[in-house]
Amino acid sequence: MKSLIAYFTQTNNTKKIAEAIFEVLSAHDETNISTIRKVDIESLDEYDLLFVGTPCHDSDLAPPVKGFLENLPDSPKFKLAGFFTHSTFMPDDTERNRELYDQWAGLCTPTFENACKNKKIEFLGYFNCRGKANPGIEAFIRQVVITDDDEWNEYLPELRKHPDSNDIEDAKVFAQEILDKL
Ligand SMILES: Cc1cc2nc3c(=O)[nH]c(=O)nc-3n(C[C@H](O)[C@H](O)[C@H](O)COP(=O)(O)O)c2cc1C
Repeated sequence: MKSLIAYFTQTNNTKKIAEAIFEVLSAHDETNISTIRKVDIESLDEYDLLFVGTPCHDSDLAPPVKGFLENLPDSPKFKLAGFFTHSTFMPDDTERNRELYDQWAGLCTPTFENACKNKKIEFLGYFNCRGKANPGIEAFIRQVVITDDDEWNEYLPELRKHPDSNDIEDAKVFAQEILDKL
């Protein structure tokens, strides 16, 4: 089996997750890792498994990754798994976290699923975790998303730790689960 991990990153959060997945996959099989811009779409025929990684931008996958998914071949040999990092909360803690997640990262999963459906690619699942935001995005979140002082003071120091060692371990578990599905 041959796998490719293709990812887009601007501040390396998604890269850290890509590297954790690479560690697991490469211990089993032939695995390549590359930024999305360097992937030759024609070369994807070689692969049985494609992981696609991205930051969340504007509640959705980052534009270069959406473009990459749109350019994938129809009915390819490979199956696809997705991963993304985002600066909102994880959805499963409280109702408020779920609301913020849905509003600020809620399009990521449907976009992966729909892209695979449109191209008749088997979608194996996705992983997501938090990733610290750059200063401009932090300022935006403060002004628009988390305007309450108490919520902000709880949110920011925690966000800045991510992806942390637990996220890296969770990404490895995810990679192994995907391998187990094949
Ligand atoms: C232009 C831009 C838009 C963003 N929009 C969102 C967003 O809508 N929701 C969110 O949770 N995070 C958003 N973020 C934060 C990133 O998803 C987060 O910091 C991510 O971990 C960055 O990953 P990277 O270091 O791999 O680039 C945005 C970041 C940028 C630069």
